[in-house]
Amino acid sequence: MSEQKSFYVTTPIYYVNDAPHIGHAYTTIAGDVLTRWHRQRGESVWYLTGTDEHGQKVLNTATANNADPLSWCDRLVNDAWKPLWQQLNIANDDFIRTTEARHESRVQKFLTELKDAGYIYAGKFEGPYCVGCEEFKLPADLLEGKCKIHSKPVELLSEDNWFFKLSAFREQLLEHYRKNPNACQPESARNEVVSFLEGEVRDLSISRSTLSWGIPVPWDTKQVIYVWFDALLNYATAVGLGESKDFSKKWPADIHLVGKDILRFHAVIWPAMLMAAKLPVPNQVFAHGWLLVAGEKMSKSKLTGIAPSEITNHFGVDAFRYYFLRAIPFGSDGSFSWEDMSARYTSELANDFGNLASRTIAMLEKYFDGKIPEVANEPKLSGALQSTVKAADLAISSLDFQGAILQILDFCKLVNGYVTEKEPWKLAKQSDAANKKELGDVLYNTAEALRALAVLFNSVMPQTCQKLWRALGVEKTLGKLADQRISNVAKWGQIPAGTVTSKIEILFPKIEAEE
Ligand code: ME8
Ligand code: MG
Repeated sequence: MSEQKSFYVTTPIYYVNDAPHIGHAYTTIAGDVLTRWHRQRGESVWYLTGTDEHGQKVLNTATANNADPLSWCDRLVNDAWKPLWQQLNIANDDFIRTTEARHESRVQKFLTELKDAGYIYAGKFEGPYCVGCEEFKLPADLLEGKCKIHSKPVELLSEDNWFFKLSAFREQLLEHYRKNPNACQPESARNEVVSFLEGEVRDLSISRSTLSWGIPVPWDTKQVIYVWFDALLNYATAVGLGESKDFSKKWPADIHLVGKDILRFHAVIWPAMLMAAKLPVPNQVFAHGWLLVAGEKMSKSKLTGIAPSEITNHFGVDAFRYYFLRAIPFGSDGSFSWEDMSARYTSELANDFGNLASRTIAMLEKYFDGKIPEVANEPKLSGALQSTVKAADLAISSLDFQGAILQILDFCKLVNGYVTEKEPWKLAKQSDAANKKELGDVLYNTAEALRALAVLFNSVMPQTCQKLWRALGVEKTLGKLADQRISNVAKWGQIPAGTVTSKIEILFPKIEAEE
């Protein structure tokens, strides 16, 4: 088992030109949910995130704040980025910063190998550059001389640079995406990449001579390596590229999660770099949509970012983790709305899920002194659970988080319907044995359903599900919540009779109205 390759998931490494907003949280939470689910599948998982610290954009921001770039990065990483991931319960296994020695040395070695293999040559770059994107632009990328993503004027560069023979990999990349439709998803992203590759693919300038904040080109130290060439390599340097025997236990990455703004870098340049080095390419690049503000991409540069704390202070961390994956199909754009979030918080989380938990635990306490009754079964519920688990697992496999959540919510609704139909509070008023037995069965089945819900919602809402797990009193008999296997969750009758439940705090408290 220890030789098994890890399921390796990454987020983009974010620029530390400013503090994170909910767009960054969106990607990182999606990755966290994905990796937690895979852990519960019993797989060995490796989850990487980090920060992209070189380049002109970060340098400009540091300078504008009267800081040297490294202290600026240190400050943002330690005071803003890392604390946010901790607060949001992100269970990443590693955090890479591109200013770390392990990264810089491996990047230099990689570049030297590419040069030795004949893929790097000297040339002159002339053309537009967007500092927001840190990207050399083509005429088609501009609108009235401005970058289409950042709506800001581009700079005109004219520099002697080192170039990577990207064009040499055009055919091989096309072949790759034709043969492996899954290698780039969703479909819209794959189409965009294929049509880009069907056009003219130019070689890429991979160094800058007018900037010193970066990793020096090993054989020409007056130049630094272009920030994207440096940054993309993080996915490999972090797991020991070129040095560690364990590299092949992680590489290739299974899923690179990115926003669609950086699709081309990940689906064209990155695999070409790997092909040039004769390394395996990632199994999948998945480009999700944008969180929009007034119809445009929310962004640090445009100062339209909503801080995650604005939402978590109000709704709590788990509801925040839940909301975006629930409300927006992964791959599509979407906007944040307080009204929609409030409505879903109340109906789906507080009423459908939270109340079911509180009611059940309270009735077990009241009618059975907090002891789980005899094991029972209800084919309608256990059968539905089986198909729920199957469908949710399948949905997660295609990164359809919304689909998976809807499946679990549907099951939750079914259980609510079961309780409403059985009216345990009425059964409790009858004193004959038959009714007492039926009351026990109803509450046993409801407790079992809650056990399953805790397991199934755990990757999305780990803190809440942990509270429920504790209240059900099953940690001693069934083990830790995080160790519960997806493959086993539908097996009905797992909670032993006599298990002692405990009081549960309200999982999703009523929200005070905004003034
Ligand atoms: O591009 N909606 O970093 P970055 C959804 N350093 N996701 C959003 C978003 C929004 N409005 N805004 C940001 C970089 N994101 C490079 C990456 S990787 C080798 C280098 C998320 O700080 C989304 O994942 O600009 C997007 O791709 C990423 O943050 C861009 O972060
Ligand atoms: Mg950006």
